Amino acid sequence: MTTRRNFIRLSAFSAALLSVSKSFGKRNYEPGNAAAPIILSTWKWGLEANEEAWKIISRGGRALDAVEAGVRLTEGDLGNVSVGLGGNPDRDGHVTLDACIMDEKGNCGSVCFVEGIRYPTSLARAVMEKTPHIILVGEGAVQFAKENGFTQENNGLTPRANTAWKKWLKKSKYKPEVNPDSHDTIGMIAIDASGNLSGACTTSGLPFKMHGRVGDSPIIGAGLFVDNEVGAATATGNGEEVIRTCGSHTIVEMMRQGHSPEEACRIAIERISKSPKDIRQLQVGYLAVNKHGEFGAYSLQKGFNYAMNDDKGNRLLDSDFMFK
Ligand code: GLY
Repeated sequence: MTTRRNFIRLSAFSAALLSVSKSFGKRNYEPGNAAAPIILSTWKWGLEANEEAWKIISRGGRALDAVEAGVRLTEGDLGNVSVGLGGNPDRDGHVTLDACIMDEKGNCGSVCFVEGIRYPTSLARAVMEKTPHIILVGEGAVQFAKENGFTQENNGLTPRANTAWKKWLKKSKYKPEVNPDSHDTIGMIAIDASGNLSGACTTSGLPFKMHGRVGDSPIIGAGLFVDNEVGAATATGNGEEVIRTCGSHTIVEMMRQGHSPEEACRIAIERISKSPKDIRQLQVGYLAVNKHGEFGAYSLQKGFNYAMNDDKGNRLLDSDFMFK
């Protein structure tokens, strides 16, 4: 016969088992072990960015420094069509950049709708560290940048972006579709050797967006969220759908409830599937890591991939997806 004490013991044992099985991700994890360093970032350009970030993490550096250094590589690549100054412009021909960063203590900074700043994530970090605010936008962000040693560049569009814009202008069809071949955003989340998490997210946004449009990438809780007790998540794809559902925050809360990173990403994607808008042509991809270094991803459409770097190397992995 099950006594009350035995029943309580059994219930506690089952709950512990359930919680371990729910949180078991794609990495060998023994409860109690601290996570080894790991870096995750969206899309194939994440491979190079991870390598840059790994130089810092592998020397015992801080995850915050690593994610900033990693995404700066992508921001500085003028060949990238959706991150940094080489990105596609808005419909009026302006490249406007959005970025944010968040550390293990919950400090965060963000810049939106900035022009001519080569490393908007570093500017977001300056907002985080040097102001009492979290978000600066447009001219105010640029003024702050200049006051803090950043240079505003006025080199216009790259020849590639100019050609793409001129082609777009012929029809000027405003349809915020995410082309699975052109991708967008780099979101990077990392755990350092001390077990601390940080993340960064940066983009030039949807190509040919309305002037003044801001996406999810610089919005804490949408494009990025970090909770050092639980994990971190980042987003790529159609920012409007990510903002509507507070995507990255939702994922971290799902991990807090015991879901694995991939399950948490899937739940957040399922919320998008209830959007009032027609999302069949849209892409959103989520990437998450929990405090133990288990990681996972999930997207609306086929084609989302991400780079994962740990002490065994750096590799590109495909995400599972909803619309099969
Ligand atoms: N995820 C990037 C954007 O929507 O701007």
